Amino acid sequence: MLNSPLQAPDAGASGPIGVFDSGIGGLSILKALRQRMPREDFIYIADSGHAPYGERGDEFVRERSRFLTQTLVDQGAKAVVVACNTATAAAVQELRLHWPHLPLIGVEPALKPAALQTRTGHITVLATRGTLNSAKFQQLLAQQAPELDIRCQPCDGLADAIENLDDRQIAHYCRHYLDQTGPWLNAPSAPDTLVLGCTHYPLVLQQWLSELPPHVTVLDTGAPVAEQTHRRLLQIGQLRQPDLAEPVEPTGLVRWYTTGKVEHLERAVQHWLPEASGPCQPLPKR
Ligand code: DGL
Repeated sequence: MLNSPLQAPDAGASGPIGVFDSGIGGLSILKALRQRMPREDFIYIADSGHAPYGERGDEFVRERSRFLTQTLVDQGAKAVVVACNTATAAAVQELRLHWPHLPLIGVEPALKPAALQTRTGHITVLATRGTLNSAKFQQLLAQQAPELDIRCQPCDGLADAIENLDDRQIAHYCRHYLDQTGPWLNAPSAPDTLVLGCTHYPLVLQQWLSELPPHVTVLDTGAPVAEQTHRRLLQIGQLRQPDLAEPVEPTGLVRWYTTGKVEHLERAVQHWLPEASGPCQPLPKR
């Protein structure tokens, strides 16, 4: 049970939107959600006590996803965003069976947009081992045009380095994994599109941009996931303020929980989403 006032599970349009990730990566999705739906409240759970998911088995990730979704539902979440590619690949289908009436929005690497916008036909996808090995991702890959050259690179260690705000390791891994899928210049096979298929990776966008030639397009899924969440809530009449004429500053509140260290989440929020910062609370590991 979370140690803050409980809300009725049927809080309706006034209820918060639940968001979870293996850790702090979901902040990249939450930022886009707040921009798209500035009047909504959110509950964010960082499962940092169990990160990284990408190097664990599917059954473990499914069990964590069930537990975190149940926790968010108990808190009155009117929708749940699985802000983690690895958890989406392993668990979203099962979550939808368990909660057929709850809008459950997942994330997946932006392969379709990449296929539409590449000019050279060479695309690099960076993601966790769990995402790349999943049946869901393999299906997505098989749906792309056969003439595309799509290089999939698992990035062991990178989500952890971002989780620990370890700048030296972040720079090392970004450089290393780009080297694995290059060359990025002066070669007919140079990729012109980079897909960031893990929600931790857009948090260090500046690092990617500093390593890449300027013509390379970098894609992540924050904005499309926010759009999809907005659409789902609008369809079922659960948006707080559906008709905002133009973008406004987010005023909704975020309640923060973590299964890891509270100071760690507070530091990450201060770093990446300071405008939404607030006290973080511990969530029992199970
Ligand atoms: N942020 C997560 C994702 O999008 C996973 C990182 C991890 O825990 O390995 O896949």
